[in-house]
Amino acid sequence: VKGSAGIVGGLSLGGLAGAQDQGVVRIGSDIPYKPFEYRTQSGDLTGFDVDLAEAIFAGQMDRDYEFVQTGFDTIIPSLNNGNFRIIMSAMTINDQRDQQVDFSEPYFIAYQTVAILQGSDVQSVEDLKGKTVAVQKGTTGEAAAQQLKEQFGGDLNIDSYDQIPGAFNALLNNQAVAVINDNAVNLQYADERDSIVMLEGEGQAAQEFENAPPYLTLTVERYGIAFREDDDEFRQQVNEALNAVIGSGQYAEIYKEYFTG
Ligand code: ARG
Repeated sequence: VKGSAGIVGGLSLGGLAGAQDQGVVRIGSDIPYKPFEYRTQSGDLTGFDVDLAEAIFAGQMDRDYEFVQTGFDTIIPSLNNGNFRIIMSAMTINDQRDQQVDFSEPYFIAYQTVAILQGSDVQSVEDLKGKTVAVQKGTTGEAAAQQLKEQFGGDLNIDSYDQIPGAFNALLNNQAVAVINDNAVNLQYADERDSIVMLEGEGQAAQEFENAPPYLTLTVERYGIAFREDDDEFRQQVNEALNAVIGSGQYAEIYKEYFTG
């Protein structure tokens, strides 16, 4: 019987499902990943995902929520173990993950990009052959690097770091010639440091969009909120709330805060 805990006409009568629907929505996320989830200098959690969670859970669903720091590499098993209820972590929707979790509607378009040092010898993807690139463990950036490695007949060294700042430290210390990672995060580093720039060129984005960005794009990806596969009712409620946030113009406001001006 579906909803055996006794949900009648939208009224929760208690039991397991009822209990689960009352408490704080725990959100697994790997922090820092600026501008999506990070702490300000005074230690406050902020970012695009954080503001979106506020709009969805506090604003639309009248629910308390909290972010739970978790390593990205183990974030899906962690969700399925019940450590938190959902994942909001700039997570790309893909087939491999779709076999382990269910996703919300997509809420953001992203590209894998290549961050390099100003004045780098690397001026095209081909120049990466024989070199070391830095990525975050378990990410689509790591997957993109693995694909390049195959393309180069194995002649690429991939150093995987637990968190993205580790990958950028490797770049800045000349232990890697590039960081392969999501565009908005790479652009953030490029913005904050004169010594970091984006590798230019065309790529996947140009195949899909008329005004593709000026930097090289290895993939086109879409972020989603991840749910356990047995949490479909909640997933539908969150999808509705997400649509309301988009439809009301709130999404555009949040977007503007992190991505323009
Ligand atoms: N979008 C990439 C992926 O899904 C990277 C996400 C990393 N997120 C984070 N909060 N560290 O693999």
